Amino acid sequence: MNTPDAVDRLLGRMTLDEKIGQLNLLAAGEGIATGIAGDNTLTRRLDTGRIGAIFGTKSLASARSMQERALAGSRLKIPLFFAEDVIHGHRTVFPLPIALACSWNMALIEETAAFAAAEAAAEGLHQVYAPMIDIARDPRWGRVAESPGEDPYLASRVAVAMTRGFQGAQISAPGRVAACLKHFVAYGATASGRDYDNASLAWEDLLGTYLPPFAAGVRAGAASVMAAFNAVNKLPMHCNEPLIEGWLRSRTGFEGLVVSDYTGVRELIDHGMGPAPVAVARALHAGIDMDMVGEDYLAELPALAARGIDAPDCAVSFSAGEIVALIDRACRRVLRFKADLGLLDDPFRGLTGRPAAPSPAAGRKLARKAAAAAAVLLKNNGVLPLRRNAQVALIGPLGADRANLLGTWSVSGRAEDVVPLDQAIAALTGHMPATAFGSNIVEEQWLVARTNVHGVTVEPDERPEAEMLAEAVALARASEVVIVAVGEAKEQAGESSSRLSPDLPAPQRRLVAALAETGTPLVIVVFAGRPLAMGHIPNQADALMFAWHNGIAGPEGVADLLFGVDEPSGRLAATLPAAPGEVPLSYAEEPTGRPFPGHFAKFRTGWLDLADDLQRFPFGFGLGYAPVRYGPPRLSATKARLGESVRLTVEITNEGDRPAVETPQLYLSDPVARTTRPGRFLVDFQQVSLAPGETRAIEFVIDAEMARYPVAPSLETAEWVWDPGLVRVHVGPNSRDTQMLELTWQA
Ligand code: BGC
Repeated sequence: MNTPDAVDRLLGRMTLDEKIGQLNLLAAGEGIATGIAGDNTLTRRLDTGRIGAIFGTKSLASARSMQERALAGSRLKIPLFFAEDVIHGHRTVFPLPIALACSWNMALIEETAAFAAAEAAAEGLHQVYAPMIDIARDPRWGRVAESPGEDPYLASRVAVAMTRGFQGAQISAPGRVAACLKHFVAYGATASGRDYDNASLAWEDLLGTYLPPFAAGVRAGAASVMAAFNAVNKLPMHCNEPLIEGWLRSRTGFEGLVVSDYTGVRELIDHGMGPAPVAVARALHAGIDMDMVGEDYLAELPALAARGIDAPDCAVSFSAGEIVALIDRACRRVLRFKADLGLLDDPFRGLTGRPAAPSPAAGRKLARKAAAAAAVLLKNNGVLPLRRNAQVALIGPLGADRANLLGTWSVSGRAEDVVPLDQAIAALTGHMPATAFGSNIVEEQWLVARTNVHGVTVEPDERPEAEMLAEAVALARASEVVIVAVGEAKEQAGESSSRLSPDLPAPQRRLVAALAETGTPLVIVVFAGRPLAMGHIPNQADALMFAWHNGIAGPEGVADLLFGVDEPSGRLAATLPAAPGEVPLSYAEEPTGRPFPGHFAKFRTGWLDLADDLQRFPFGFGLGYAPVRYGPPRLSATKARLGESVRLTVEITNEGDRPAVETPQLYLSDPVARTTRPGRFLVDFQQVSLAPGETRAIEFVIDAEMARYPVAPSLETAEWVWDPGLVRVHVGPNSRDTQMLELTWQA
């Protein structure tokens, strides 16, 4: 039953209460709660047909029994669908999304999503609340962990790869699930990096930076979208009709399902959007089809459908007939989603346990490969790769850690599946490294029973710091090389986990400083949930690897890199600030008139108190073990018209004696335009393997569409324009170290 007619026939047989019931989306109560739920009793809703879907079931058996109960309680036998937060893997936890984006390997990202889909589908899930495609340029924001980073082009490619990986060609196919693009939109532009705060930004920034990944995900066929908690330019997203019904549906042609975020409809009241009936009318009118957890649709819609609403204090007025039509519209979308999932034909679709989940061994292998691909080598003075028989010490709070490495939003992961770094090294080299795990993971002031939204307390190491440091220093002195495993606790990143100062926690900075004094070479590995300001760490390190919270086989993937089993190939998906006060930041900052080159020398870094020896690691940056040289780039023409394309060729050579994986990146800049433009913006990249000594010619095709940009006095009047004139073409190994050519678009 998947024709619109069949859905309409079913809709025609439903009572108003049954339709409203379909818009109700509840938590199974078997997972975490991120908001304050209303008075809902799941079984009561199931028995009376007042529920459309459930998220957070933790087993196939429980999903199946809920489906049976729902079918028994529903007069027309309309099945539920089941959803879950499958953000970076399901049971097999892969590196964080921000880490996966650093692989710049779209086939690999798609493969991880497909694997996660197969595991999720085997447990009766039909929809995953992913990919999270919020552009994040402020590392204080804890949810940068879940994001594909700072760049709209890279994020758009990730949106496509993940949507394809989850959905395949059809969401009803075995082993596939519906993707849900979230959070719509500009959740990552939240003020000061505070989670849940509002976003105020130019329409051009919204259209040019935050919306493109959603447009790409919709083009890739994503079946659903989740609204964001924040307001955009004064209108909360849960009642943002111009962006949901306007941009998302009318401009991109999205025809799928829009769900609220957790109690997002109810939270409109706190945003000042009116009391519950007004908030509900506004959300429904804006295009929020399902109400997650709050049950405000269930509570308010019957009366609204009977009487309509008139609220002059916020200029909201809907007749009863309009509300009924809006309920029909939302219910039709829910039913169509169920039809597309194959559930209206077979309510137990996906609930039979067949096909079985893919093998955990295959998952571990993929997770290990992904972790190695996601780690970014930031510095290497030649100490890496290590010899397997080197006398290695492993020091630092994450050296034997399992739980933190799962990273945030790994709701179905198990800490016991993580092979910690000490064991990963032992398995690879044949001997356990000497270890010292001193130094707290968190800032001292956080040791006072800090709990986060998930109700987790971060535990400190209770020993005096001086004792831990003395032990670490003695071990370093007695060793040939030290691997220092530092970073953040899992709960320091993620939802409701913003940090004022996104850098390595102070006790760990003291640990690194003490170890650096010993003179023993330091290989510093950072396991973190956000891009951290590296401060003095790069100067103290002989080698520095940013490995992120990287999942069940993360430390194994890192060990593969450290000991040269695999080549480092990760490239930063977000700039690492030099100091925390630099944020928010991005490589794509707009040019300005000041400071003048050569003037205001004391201000040349942008901040008076930013030390000269601190460095940013720019977007796109990452090293391998073999140096790769870029030859002079050439353009096939220096002038072209709209509709024509120009080829850029550049030869790259592996000048080392090890294989290399290189990621040539292509950026444009537009020096004269109608509005200010980013200093440069990524438009394409490739990833190529080079044998030792190998030279390859890389070719990029540049067309004028790449130079289109939004001009938007308002959302409604926005257009994507193209101007003739000069563009600069930049090619290189990252967003900073590029070579430039000029190209003129002719009218
Ligand atoms: C988060 C969403 C998530 C939802 C359901 C919310 O708090 O913002 O990303 O999908 O909870 O768990």
